[in-house]
Amino acid sequence: MEIEVFTTLNGIPDEAINNKTIIVIDVLRATTTITTALAAGCLEVIPVLTPEEAIEMRQRLEDERVLLGGERNALKIPGFDLGNSPQEYTPQVVAGKRLIITTTNGTRAIRRAAGGRQVLLGAMSNGPAVARVAAAGAADITIICSGTRDHFSLEDFLTAGLLVEELGTQGEYTLRDGARVARDYFRLHRQNPGAAMMESYHGRLLVSLGLGDDVDYCSRVGTAAVVPVYNGGIIKQLG
Ligand code: MLT
Repeated sequence: MEIEVFTTLNGIPDEAINNKTIIVIDVLRATTTITTALAAGCLEVIPVLTPEEAIEMRQRLEDERVLLGGERNALKIPGFDLGNSPQEYTPQVVAGKRLIITTTNGTRAIRRAAGGRQVLLGAMSNGPAVARVAAAGAADITIICSGTRDHFSLEDFLTAGLLVEELGTQGEYTLRDGARVARDYFRLHRQNPGAAMMESYHGRLLVSLGLGDDVDYCSRVGTAAVVPVYNGGIIKQLG
């Protein structure tokens, strides 16, 4: 079995999706936020591409449990209930709710992964738990880094490296070159992944917006046991 890592959505061949176990990463912050929301008791998360699609879906669902969340330029979208800070997604706010979310890169990446045999959402927080579930699938694993508007993102690559490292403790894998370099990069920073993430382009943007606490939160390894699974357009906690 193989592990490959793609650093942006550009040029991912269909053969790397179809019939593979996919792990989608947008550690700053979409996949961390979705993991946090599900851990806090949110029933399900529906990822959509645009704010307009989110608003239209809320009208169509006619369900008072629905919340709208997400960001543009890292900030809450006007008229939405929540932004994209994982720390907003507390049990008091999201338990028993359904969340429709749209983010700049993360939700695009999740939608791109549709067609995978199993699609999991990974972050630093749930990396060890996601690796255990992915390894149990006994298939080739494709890790997709969401990147930032089609640019390489250090923080997603670092998280991909954590996943490759964790998968290595679960089974025998052939590492494609992207997976090998991601693992080696994680090893360089394993003592302090938060410091590396603070230096990333997106980490620095979040710090400049006063959201440095989010970077710190998103860099903590193994704090969540929740494994979000995307299936049929909906993300739920693995049951
Ligand atoms: C994204 O999807 O681009 C992000 O999660 C951006 C963010 O809110 O930090």
